[in-house]
Amino acid sequence: MSLRFCQLLLVLRRDVYEQNSIYAYALVKINSFALHATVKAILWAEMIFLHKNFLVLFGLAILMVTTMPVSRGDESIKQDDGKGNPVAGKEKSKLCQGCHGEDGNSISEATPKLSGQYEKYILKQLRDYKAGIRPHEIMNAMAIELSEEDMADVSSYFSIQVKMKGSGSVDTDEGEKLYLKGDRSQMVMACVSCHGVKGKGLTPDTPMYPVIGGQHKDYLLKQLIDYRENERANSQNSIMSRIVRPLSDGDLEALASYLAAQ
Ligand code: HEC
Ligand code: HEC
Repeated sequence: MSLRFCQLLLVLRRDVYEQNSIYAYALVKINSFALHATVKAILWAEMIFLHKNFLVLFGLAILMVTTMPVSRGDESIKQDDGKGNPVAGKEKSKLCQGCHGEDGNSISEATPKLSGQYEKYILKQLRDYKAGIRPHEIMNAMAIELSEEDMADVSSYFSIQVKMKGSGSVDTDEGEKLYLKGDRSQMVMACVSCHGVKGKGLTPDTPMYPVIGGQHKDYLLKQLIDYRENERANSQNSIMSRIVRPLSDGDLEALASYLAAQ
């Protein structure tokens, strides 16, 4: 419809300028506002063309500039991953704070601390909950209500809080040994190589490896068991599931105790 109209108008180009009646007729026939505007723009451009070619170029440049932010805006959402607004995030996360703590330091052992966690890691988990890739009744329901922008903002808010801190000492050094050295006989990689010293993360450039030192013990243990049993299977290439598969309940318990103390 729109193409045919434009074609018609182009064919009638001369007439359009010479006979105002055709121009008026064409516009009356067009109901859509957008189409109306497009045709008007074409006509204007055509008129100017008759006078001076450079004016057309000028008009086109303006048209491009004014329409560009629309497409650039869409791309910037993807490019800006992990660059949410923490001030907006504080407001948007009021409900979350009820369980995760005002500054991301939750009280319940089953609810993870988010304080000082990598922004991009939090964002990934929220996306995974929203998509149902990481199953959890409460969090799936929470995440489904959030837009991409909301997720970026709340992730940013929790990430800028003081990094989570643990409870202190542990009874045995079994967990520390496994964490630092892994277990070659069972082909278990050392956790420290990805999660950093004391589980505090590697560098600011490695947000895919979450902070786990200072996290609640019950939460950590549940995640490790869930990875092993494939109840949680959202790590890239199932890397975490493959790493912990050979480990016993006792090993996982020792690791969780060590990490919770950091
Ligand atoms: C009713 C309590 C509750 C509320 C409200 C809640 N959460 Fe959670 N959240 C949990 C629990 C419990 C878990 C652990 C789920 C699991 O085992 O996968 C969790 C897990 C998470 C995780 C995963 C952390 C990690 O280390 O992998 C993130 C991120 C998260 N929540 C963010 C949020 C955000 C953002 C909101 C608000 C929109 C929110 N939560 C609201 C209870 C809650
Ligand atoms: C090759 C790198 C690598 C190694 C080695 C590794 N991890 Fe991970 N770990 C990851 C990645 C990546 C994730 C995040 C997965 C995701 O996006 O859900 C993760 C997530 C976790 C989580 C979930 C954190 C949370 O907040 O929910 C725990 C707990 C964990 N790892 C513990 C360990 C332990 C214990 C070891 C050693 C036995 C270990 N990891 C070794 C890469 C690794």
